[in-house]
Amino acid sequence: MKIALLGKGKTGSKVIELAASNPDISLTIFDSNNRPTREKLQGHDVALSFLTGDIFLEYIEEISASGISVVSGSTGFDWTPERLELVSKSNSPWIHSNNFSLGMNIVKEMISILSKANALFQNSEFKIHEIHHTKKVDAPSGTAKAWKNWLGHEAEMTYERTGDVVGTHELTLKTNNEEIFLRHEALDRKIFAEGALWACSQVNNLRPGLHDFSDVAKEALAKA
Ligand SMILES: NC(=O)c1ccc[n+]([C@@H]2O[C@H](COP(=O)([O-])OP(=O)(O)OC[C@H]3O[C@@H](n4cnc5c(N)ncnc54)[C@H](OP(=O)(O)O)[C@@H]3O)[C@@H](O)[C@H]2O)c1
Repeated sequence: MKIALLGKGKTGSKVIELAASNPDISLTIFDSNNRPTREKLQGHDVALSFLTGDIFLEYIEEISASGISVVSGSTGFDWTPERLELVSKSNSPWIHSNNFSLGMNIVKEMISILSKANALFQNSEFKIHEIHHTKKVDAPSGTAKAWKNWLGHEAEMTYERTGDVVGTHELTLKTNNEEIFLRHEALDRKIFAEGALWACSQVNNLRPGLHDFSDVAKEALAKA
């Protein structure tokens, strides 16, 4: 698979590390010294973006005009009708995600089961706790908020900022006499690279248009 990797920073460099041990992947790296153009992108199977959102938007027209498939982890912008129009014009499948962790998709299914606890228990309480490195600015994390959203119930939200923790999320369900504890711990930023490379392997099987990574992962789980 020929991948045009856009961005080789903190996350893109993890893609480079993982691809180095996979002989089926060849990477062309684009950064501020080798900027992506439609001509340079053509001939690749997929463009994988770990550019920051503002830089990705600078190139989105060029990427669309190349006509190749896209997997994007760039964050911090909305998919406005104009941007969706560019996806449509490319006539190719695109996958987007703010969190490419594969494990998080399994967690989502587990949370959906826990959310039904009220069908069995009269008294059940949910708590969500997250731990991140000290440089993280937002709290609670976007992922903790997503967990609460997936749960669809009131939950006490707490957080901790310590050391260089990549990201730990915990959900506790407490009933009168039982406790269930669900924990997801990101051990390395490679989890995002791993999920994004998995998305690259799937994208060309999809119909043209924008797809959410969690829907693609959900379908793979449903088939298993
Ligand atoms: N979806 C996910 O799972 C996930 C996970 C982690 C991060 N992210 C997101 O991924 C994005 C990148 O994060 P990061 O921490 O890896 O960023 P980063 O370390 O700042 O890396 C950004 C990269 O963009 C390149 N770049 C900057 N300006 C450019 C330009 N004008 N033209 C071409 N390339 C340019 C830089 O190239 P130089 O090296 O030449 O400066 C660098 O390689 C962010 O939006 C972040 O939120 C997503």
